[in-house]
Amino acid sequence: MKQSEEKVLAGAKVLVVGGAGYIGAHTCQALAKAGFVPVVLDTLETGYREFVQWGPLVQGDCADPQVVADVLAQYQPVAVLHFAAKISVPESEQNPQLYYEHNVVKTLAFLRTLLAYQLIPVIFSSTAAVYGNPIQTPIEEDHPLLPINPYGRTKLMVESILADYHKAYGLPSICLRYFNAAGADPEAQIGEAHDPETHLIPLVLRATDTHPIKVFGTDYPTPDGTCIRDYIHVCDLASAHVAALHFILSTSGAYHMNLGTGEGASVLAVIQAAEAVLGRPVPHEFHARRDVDPAILVASAALSRSVLGWTPQRSDLKTIIEDALRWAGQSHLK
Ligand code: UFG
Repeated sequence: MKQSEEKVLAGAKVLVVGGAGYIGAHTCQALAKAGFVPVVLDTLETGYREFVQWGPLVQGDCADPQVVADVLAQYQPVAVLHFAAKISVPESEQNPQLYYEHNVVKTLAFLRTLLAYQLIPVIFSSTAAVYGNPIQTPIEEDHPLLPINPYGRTKLMVESILADYHKAYGLPSICLRYFNAAGADPEAQIGEAHDPETHLIPLVLRATDTHPIKVFGTDYPTPDGTCIRDYIHVCDLASAHVAALHFILSTSGAYHMNLGTGEGASVLAVIQAAEAVLGRPVPHEFHARRDVDPAILVASAALSRSVLGWTPQRSDLKTIIEDALRWAGQSHLK
């Protein structure tokens, strides 16, 4: 996008559905830095009011046509970023109804209202879980889409819906397939605060002698036997959304792309990196594999780099862990 076009967009409003959550709030921060005004629509069921610091908050459900119509009429956003979803793989297996209803049915209802109003681009939070067990790594975007849990299937369904809506109605969209989001705002204004927390890095930082971190599986076909993931700093994810927004506002189409670094780290490598940052051992114990963890999930990062002109800046493990630690040290949201 040319500089003159970026100036025209300065002050433009962007609707951020789920903007009070972890990745949504960091993206709001990045949007504001880039000159946009993020308008957050969030039920606050799992998001936090104090994470909404860079624009107005409308507390409501994206499936409620009246709420959405009012927000669109009042703020006239130029695009939508849609983060709101249930995000736990194990929970999706225990309660798939919750996941299909939240992630698919509510999104359909939201898109119905949006289409009735105007065709503004949608940037959608997708996931590496759409690939299922990788046949090859790094995973390129044309890898077969064979999700192995309801969570991944809900995200793939919305990807398909958006592709079909572009074809039929001309709705522009980008589905961003996140690998493992981690870290926090370096100034620790916002950070990761899931309840319950299931993600590796916050749990590693909380590990104590009485509650050691459980390493799930030591017999994977990886160099140290533990799972390998592609950890991407949440601020890098946020800046990728800003780049995706500029991109989709200057073009049309229905796109999907990975957001990862292209580098993998094992569970033991994460523990070692945390020990180096903390300057003490991280108590850990070895457990059997979880049912559905693929051995290796590493993105091919080439497409997002070339299409969005985006490169991760803070996604080395040391920076991710330092930022997560700073947030954990001062947040009351744990
Ligand atoms: N792990 C442990 N102990 C723990 C928690 C995690 O050993 O207490 C391991 C997991 O087995 C996995 C790695 O650390 O190998 C990372 O686990 P996370 O729970 O942090 O993340 P996942 O890779 O399981 O899940 C992430 C996202 C999901 C998304 C998925 C894509 O959180 O939303 O990637 O496959 F669906």
